[in-house]
Amino acid sequence: MYQISELAEKVGLSRTTLLYYEKQGLLAGTRQSNGYRLYSEKDVQHLRLLLQLRAGGLTLSECKACLNSKVERSLLERRLQQLDAEIAQKQQARTLLAALLGEGSLRPWHQMTDKLAPEAHLDWLQRQGFNEKQALHLKWLSKDMNEHDQYMADFMAVFQALERWGPGSDADSLKALSYVPFAPEKILDIGCGKGFSTTLLATQTQAQIVAVDNEQSALDQLGERLAQQQLERRVTLACTSMTDLPFTSSSFDLIWSECSAYIMGIEQALEQWQPLLTSGGYLVLSDLVWLTEMPSPIAREFWQQEYPDMQTIAKRLTQMQQAGFELIDHYSLSEQAWSDYYQPLKARIAELKPSMPSSMAIADLEREIALYEQYFGEFGYQMFVLKKGA
Ligand SMILES: C[S@@+](CC[C@H](N)C(=O)[O-])C[C@H]1O[C@@H](n2cnc3c(N)ncnc32)[C@H](O)[C@@H]1O
Repeated sequence: MYQISELAEKVGLSRTTLLYYEKQGLLAGTRQSNGYRLYSEKDVQHLRLLLQLRAGGLTLSECKACLNSKVERSLLERRLQQLDAEIAQKQQARTLLAALLGEGSLRPWHQMTDKLAPEAHLDWLQRQGFNEKQALHLKWLSKDMNEHDQYMADFMAVFQALERWGPGSDADSLKALSYVPFAPEKILDIGCGKGFSTTLLATQTQAQIVAVDNEQSALDQLGERLAQQQLERRVTLACTSMTDLPFTSSSFDLIWSECSAYIMGIEQALEQWQPLLTSGGYLVLSDLVWLTEMPSPIAREFWQQEYPDMQTIAKRLTQMQQAGFELIDHYSLSEQAWSDYYQPLKARIAELKPSMPSSMAIADLEREIALYEQYFGEFGYQMFVLKKGA
């Protein structure tokens, strides 16, 4: 026979726990005349069986039911389902922690977080030591932060050699310019890349132009192109971020942004750039949009990952109106605009692939082109010509 402290030591539980079990009717010692309780070997075994059932994740009352009568299958099945759900949750937690430590891919997590909390996600990336440019790239490309450097290096290896960094054509840009009813005097070209639009605006207007991009190499090439065409005196190049433009309000009568506003988010861009326009000034921007309310699941899934904030035209128009813009016109970029972008991109990929067979950046670009070829018509680039309201 054992006293309670001896029993506690034997089964590895505290005295308080045993007293609690006793109160719950899970243990019943025999009380001595001196008030002490004594427990038999049978009690020890009963407790051990109880602990075995506890190890299966059963609650005390479930254990009691199992000990006192025939085991109820439905109860065990319910418990098993709960345990499976808990294990799956823990596995997810483990995967996330391992990925944060660089032992796996964080891509799905970034995609989800960017959708749920885009600004907090960007701030957090910066707290992890990425500068704003890197953080925006991560966000913009929805890519993995542990693979970021290699991914960006491959990405730049592809794009450095290309002229256009997004769909667009001179004809589409000129059409947008034709809607501007005045001769612009000060133009801001945001996310200009190598400056197709900048060059066009410089040749088609007499305006002073500021061309902004945060990629110095692109601006350098634009500088050379402008010099060749003797346009450099009317264009100032600024290597700075579109999220924090160093201009005072009402500085420009035309803001131009082809395939770039999405990088910081269209709504944010509308809100932050609007004050830079003079009253009645124009904003021209292009954005990838859904052309149908019911895209194919594959196309939807792809763009949900690559551009989570992609919207229908109607939704964008509402946002533009809410941001204080009047719609002048909008139209889908021509197929020419896409082939001007994708044909050289395809050729460049074919050139680089043999030397970079396992590049994730290349694989992603190939997927994008294949998707475009199969599902084009469900989505497209839309040019929006907007006027700042009074
Ligand atoms: C898809 S490309 C479009 C370039 C150009 N408008 C064209 O159509 O060829 C996006 C451009 O935005 C630039 N960019 C990315 N993040 C930026 C930022 N935070 N501020 C300014 N430019 C940025 C990139 O360097 C790139 O040139």
